[in-house]
Amino acid sequence: MEKNFYVTTPIYYVNGDPHVGSAYTTIAADAIARYKKTMGYDVFFLTGTDEHGQKVEETAKLKGLTPQAWTDVMAPKFMEMWKALNVNYTDFIRTTQTRHKDAVKKILKKVYDEGDIYKGAYEGKYCVSCETFVPENQVVNENHCPDCGKELRIVQEESYFFRMSKYQDALLAHIDAHPDFILPHSRRNEVISFIKQGLQDLSISRNTFEWGIPIEFAPGHITYVWFDALTNYLTAVGYENNPELFDKFWNHGEVMHLLGKDILRFHAIIWPCMLLSAGEKLPDKIVAHGWWTSEGEKMSKSKGNVVAPLDEVAKYGVDAFRYCLLREVNFGNDGDYSTNSIVTRINSDLANDLGNLLNRTLGMYKKYFDGKVVEGNKFEAIDETVKELYKETLKLVEHHMEKVEYSRALEAIWKFISRMNKYIDETAPWILAKDEAQKERLGTVMNFLVESLYKVALLVYPYMPESAQKIWNQLGYDNLDIREGKIEDIKGWNTLTVGHILGNAEPIFPRIEIEKKEDPLAINEELVVENPIGIEDFSKVAIEVVEIVEVARIEGADKLLKFKVKTGTEVRQIVSGIAKYYPNPEELVGKKVMAVLNLTPVKLRGELSQGMLLSTEEKKRIKLVEIDNSVKVGSKIK
Ligand code: ME8
Ligand code: MG
Repeated sequence: MEKNFYVTTPIYYVNGDPHVGSAYTTIAADAIARYKKTMGYDVFFLTGTDEHGQKVEETAKLKGLTPQAWTDVMAPKFMEMWKALNVNYTDFIRTTQTRHKDAVKKILKKVYDEGDIYKGAYEGKYCVSCETFVPENQVVNENHCPDCGKELRIVQEESYFFRMSKYQDALLAHIDAHPDFILPHSRRNEVISFIKQGLQDLSISRNTFEWGIPIEFAPGHITYVWFDALTNYLTAVGYENNPELFDKFWNHGEVMHLLGKDILRFHAIIWPCMLLSAGEKLPDKIVAHGWWTSEGEKMSKSKGNVVAPLDEVAKYGVDAFRYCLLREVNFGNDGDYSTNSIVTRINSDLANDLGNLLNRTLGMYKKYFDGKVVEGNKFEAIDETVKELYKETLKLVEHHMEKVEYSRALEAIWKFISRMNKYIDETAPWILAKDEAQKERLGTVMNFLVESLYKVALLVYPYMPESAQKIWNQLGYDNLDIREGKIEDIKGWNTLTVGHILGNAEPIFPRIEIEKKEDPLAINEELVVENPIGIEDFSKVAIEVVEIVEVARIEGADKLLKFKVKTGTEVRQIVSGIAKYYPNPEELVGKKVMAVLNLTPVKLRGELSQGMLLSTEEKKRIKLVEIDNSVKVGSKIK
């Protein structure tokens, strides 16, 4: 097969702003488009907006605009967003463009001429939000959409039908013969069992509102928005106006549709049936990804938890955002977008692993060789193992990208990055540097690192295009445009030229510090204790519960009180300087307090004191520590 690759995103409804969901599909498409280019493919990458239909018409009305004026406001928002996310599409299609209307007319005519369209009436339920007819047996909660949960409308109108049932067997046979037609495979089985329940003919025209593409053979009818929208994939590669382009990318290209699982059935059932009827080739891969939630919850405007891509880019940088989306969950699975997981990823994978590898390498090269590439032909066994792993990495990346498994591909690349970090620790260039006889080995090691980084940059380029170029720049290859880089050229080793000047190290991925919400019960593990003592010191002090049995003032010493206390074994006298705080000291009689009993006895103002009563001091107020009456006299304090 010729090496042509055509990848598409869904065309997004213009009823709301682009968000993390649409950004995800679009970034994924951008990444695979860039990847295929590094693999030597000619690439056509299409995205765009789905501008017709009842939903858009009603949104426009709410905004007080004509549908056309509204879509003219919204379409540029998508273009701007993709620009900010460094999405480099080949073409942006809007379904209100003439080229598209022409293409829809063409396919309708083909299908009509094939005898696959007939007139009838649709009576049943319709979900405006999903723009879909909902058969009675799928309705949930009396009158709600099984997919989005919104309330359904009752539709009763004359309609033209597409004989989809006719293609049931052909479609099943195609899916059977092409194992990777629907990816991931779990989704494929779901589609097969759906088709096997029996395909119904599909209503493809509406006549109770205006906003759509008129149908030539059916005056008063407009094209059902999904029939219109799906055709965009043909329009953009010249179905109606550019046979050469069409031949190249549709007929002789690998055609891949990326989309969310919400719209898989439209793509894996309706769309192939349309193509079969129109006599066109089917796409090669229909890849459905999972659903993003935000901090564990479904995203919704009312909850205010919709992730706005531009906010994330402002916080973390565009490449970190792209990387996290593609790395965090395997394509196909659902994922949760949370600050915690994003920050952890950035700090460990980007700042630590990749960032450090680059910094350490450049720092050492500067230090040992003044940043100028030296001769290095002194290889050791360890170099061979790393080369083996590299070969394996290239294979894995290719394998996973063929299956559209971004996170697995990235995982393989990061395994190599970790290996290189370990290589530094194992070869210990700082030790080699101390021995003049090891100079050439040191050069070999350093070259090996630089070359690895050069390769890694191209490997991460599809996912992080800006950073990849920065890595090349820091390695002194700012004259090379990484967008033109080819995997074929980084397969071998020893491509560094002696005398090449490395660039300057600058951190590409700064660590992100999360501002922690203060936990009032958090403990400080680094707390420093003043004048620490060991437990053996503390156990030297004998503290017991005693009962006060007598209190008296002392003549000529107005600060002091003289107590008689009962310990577990005897009665003692204790003098304490707390008279000021107890104007009516007799009230203390009968109270249980704590006393230190192994202090050396002393005389205070001529009175014997055989211990010390424990008290608390708070803002210069002193109070004896009273013990609950249920505690027995003589109990030890430990
Ligand atoms: O369905 N998680 O347009 P749409 C992951 N116009 N992906 C999400 C997402 C989320 N929470 N929310 C949206 C339409 N998406 C039609 C398509 S194609 C011929 C016509 C992404 O604006 C995902 O790709 O509702 C999903 O399939 C798409 O946005 C739906 O976009
Ligand atoms: Mg939707």
